[in-house]
Order: sequence, then C-alpha cells, then structure tokens
Amino acid sequence: MKCFSVLVLVSLFCATQCSKILIVMPTPARSHYILGNTVARTLAEAGHDITMVSSFVEKNPPKNGTYRDIQLTGFLESLEEDNKINFFELEHVNPFLNIPFMNWIGNKVTQMTFEHPKLKKLLNSGEHFDVVIVEQFYNDALKVLAYHFKAPLILFSTLGASDWINPLVGNPSPPSYIPDTYLSYTSDMTFRQRVVNLLFSITSELNHHLYFFPAQNRIMKKHFPDAPDINVLNYNASLVFVNSHESTNQAVPYVPCMINIGGFHVNPPKQLPKDLKDFMDSAKEGVIYFSMGSNLLPSQMSEKSKKIIVSTLSKLKQKVLWKWDEDTFPGKPDNVKLSKWFPQQEILAHPNTKLFITHGGLLSTTETIYHGVPVLTLPIFGDQKVNAARAQMNGFGISLSYSDITEESFTDALHNLLNDPKYRENAKRRSRLMHDRPITPKQMVVFWTEFVIRNKGASHLRVAALDLPWYKYHLLDVIAFLALVTISSIAGLSILIRKVCCGSNKKKDKVKKN
Ligand SMILES: *[C@@H]1O[C@H](CO)[C@@H](O)[C@H](O)[C@H]1NC(C)=O
Ligand SMILES: *[C@@H]1O[C@H](CO)[C@@H](O)[C@H](O)[C@H]1NC(C)=O
Repeated sequence: MKCFSVLVLVSLFCATQCSKILIVMPTPARSHYILGNTVARTLAEAGHDITMVSSFVEKNPPKNGTYRDIQLTGFLESLEEDNKINFFELEHVNPFLNIPFMNWIGNKVTQMTFEHPKLKKLLNSGEHFDVVIVEQFYNDALKVLAYHFKAPLILFSTLGASDWINPLVGNPSPPSYIPDTYLSYTSDMTFRQRVVNLLFSITSELNHHLYFFPAQNRIMKKHFPDAPDINVLNYNASLVFVNSHESTNQAVPYVPCMINIGGFHVNPPKQLPKDLKDFMDSAKEGVIYFSMGSNLLPSQMSEKSKKIIVSTLSKLKQKVLWKWDEDTFPGKPDNVKLSKWFPQQEILAHPNTKLFITHGGLLSTTETIYHGVPVLTLPIFGDQKVNAARAQMNGFGISLSYSDITEESFTDALHNLLNDPKYRENAKRRSRLMHDRPITPKQMVVFWTEFVIRNKGASHLRVAALDLPWYKYHLLDVIAFLALVTISSIAGLSILIRKVCCGSNKKKDKVKKN
C-alpha cells in the first residue's frame, strides 16, 4: 500500500513536474535558434522533458530535466547554397520584395521539415507530448504537429507582434500607428508613411489568404491528408510567446493569449576570458563593441564604407572590439582587436563598454537595452531598420545608412554618442524598464507553458474576434446599415421639405394670380 502511494505520488509529481514538450524551430538561422534554444533550456531546467527539432545541435545540454535534439541535418547547407548573396546588397531593396522572398523560403523550409527522415521517424514513433511549441515564421503548416500529437499548441514569435501572428489570434494592430516589421517607420508616421504602411498591410494580408496559406495547406495535406484545413489549425493556438517588451518595442495592444517575454534570452554575465578582460579593464577611455550579427559578414562591406569605418575608428581614443569574419585584416588600426566570435553579452555588461555599433538585429538590440549601452546602428534588412528607427526615437541610438556613410557623418555620430550623456541615460532608463517586472521572462515561459499543460489548452483566452468574418469585425455591415438609414432619412426629409415649401409657393402663386 505504502509502495503504491509512493508510486502514485511519484506519478502525480511527474504529471505536473516533468511534462513532455516538443519544440519545433526549423528556421535555419542562428538568431532564431538562440531564442528557441533558450526556451528549450529554460523548460528543461524547470525539470521538463524536451524534444527540440531544429537545424542545430546543443553541445552542452542542461543537466536538469531531459533534453533531446532532433537535428534537421542538411538544412544549413541547403540554404547556404541558395543564399550565396552579399546581405549588404539588400540595404536598399524595396520592402515589398520581402513578401515573395519569404514565401519562397517559408515553403521550402516547411517542405524540407516534413520530408526529413528524422521528423518522419518522430511522427511514426507513437510518442506522446503534453504540449507542442512551434516557431511562427512562414511555416504555418507545421501547426499540424500539435494536431498529430493531440496536444495543445503554443506559438513562439521570435519578433514582436507582427502581421504573421496578429490575425491568427485576433490581435488588433491598427496601421495608423503600428508600422510593419519590414518598414523603417516609428509609431509617429507621416501621411505618406501611413499610406505605404496601409498598402503593405493589405498586400501582406492578401498574400497570406490568396497565396501563402493555400500553398502551406497543399504542403501539409501531402503528408497529413486527414488533417483539418490550415484555416482551422491556424486559429487554434492556445498561447503565443512574443519576443518583445515595451522597453525594446513600442507599446501595442496584446490579446490575453499573447505573452511578452522579451529579454528572456539574456543571461546574467559570466566571467570574460582573460585576454578580453585585460583588454577591457585597461581601456581607460572605454571600449566600443562593433558587431554586425551572425548573418552579415563585415568583410563583404563595400571597399568605400570599409575604408571610412577603419579610418574613423583608428582616430578614436577608445579601444574597439570588432567581430570580423576573416583571418586577416590588412591595415588593422592599433586600437582595434578582431575576433570571429565575441561573448557579446559579457562585453555589453562590462562597465567600460561605451558604445555598441550594431546592425540593429532584435537580439543585439534587446541585449544592449538589457545592459544599458547606447547604439550606433547600421541597419541592412529584415526588422533591423525598424529596430534602429526605434532606438533613435527612444533617444539611445543614432542610425546611419551603411552605404551612405561619410567620414564626417560617422565621426559626428560617434562623437555625439560618446560625449552627450543623454544617450547613455536613455539606454540606462530603458534597461531599468526591462528589469522592472513582476517575475522574470524565463519564469513566465515556465509558468505559461505549465498553465497550458495543466489546463489542456487555454480556449478561455481566445477572443471572439476570431469567429467573426472580416466585414463584421470591422462593423462594415452596421456602418452600411447606418449610412443607409441616414441617407434615406435625409433624402426623405428633403423631399418632404421640398413638398411643403413648393406647396406653399404654389399657393402663394395662386394668390398672386388671383
Ligand atoms: C537544476 O539542478 C541543479 C542541480 O541539480 C539545481 O541546483 C537547480 O536548482 C535546478 N534548477 C531548477 C530550475 O530546478
Ligand atoms: C484546438 O485546440 C484544442 C486545445 O488544445 C484541442 O482540444 C482541439 O482538438 C484543437 N482543434 C484542432 C482542430 O486541432
């Protein structure tokens, strides 16, 4: 009997303590993986049993819980093959072209994921999962995995609220003050910007419904002929983790199933390696950290821009740490230290770090706010321009166009950022806002995931907007009705008035004639 109750206790403990969680993050981009991996680690550290499907492997899995990688081998190689482009050349590409490009990548990655032998093996294993977490990134068909495993679905948006996620949970996102991720606007848009923003949001919505969702549906039905339509699966997520926070992103509406976890991927700083620590400790005038992230290779910058940057940096009294992708660097200035990899979070945490020169990616932006370091942004593509515009609007950064910089504009920007204390103060203020929360974003990830598991979904968080057709949601039927009533009342009234007036005129006429 005792043994039995212990068993029951253990299994009860397990039911709430160690759930089986499937995380699917196929996007073959390191910045996306870092975020997904942090969600996975966080849940494993809370004692759960994690299965992570991605294009990468975790070399140092957490000790608590269980952590299993299902690596989608070949993804990185395949995309590198297709993407032999110099990302710097994307700087002036029309943002509307992102739509067909992302359609293509999204369908390709989704197809490759379903066709991967390791995923097929998992699907046929008969395994059970308590919840399935899928990255929401041009891969809508993958939501079928939650259906397959009969588990509630949590979506994870590696960006803030966007037009890929808002319509799926009925989140309002008025284009009047919320710019699209691919545009470089802030909440304060000019008339022209609002026109472009509205056109972008309509184009994107039409693309979803006329092309992308049907294409994803076809890919899905090839592998799951009996699954419900994508138009059903797409609107059935229990919860959405959104990688944003009001300290980094602008304040926007969130329906109750959207949980803001921005900043969750930043860890308390570890010890710097000795050589870097000595380099930074001894920098009396401070250190400038320069990194263009994991996709942009700085050696591919145009010769002109490279020359301007090197010449300007060499004249500074600060020391510079520059993430550089090649072994050699002819004419490297003495105050510059190069490396193919730097412990970015530890560098940003160092008190001597005065400035971060960045491409403005969301991870870098979040990390710099976490540590309160001002930025000089050289945004190129994706959400970098919108992040850069926001940093400038929030007063902790200056944004320059990489291809248009001159020695003068670059020097001026550096001079302002290093000498005007307002940039640092604004960065510190943002940092305080990011840390001033009731519980840490990692604790939120654990709480809400377990909440969905405990309650077998979260349908009570779903807003009724999802059940309305678009014309009812925008009250177009009511507006049309009221307009009709108003117009017919006015028309009726004017006919009446004319009748009354004309009638009395006629009488007068008659009187005159008589
Ligand atoms: C993970 O395990 C370590 C040691 O086994 C323990 O100290 C720590 O509290 C655990 N973490 C969590 C989040 O339970
Ligand atoms: C929608 O989600 C709920 C909660 O997880 C689940 O019970 C239901 O089966 C899902 N519906 C479909 C069509 O997947």
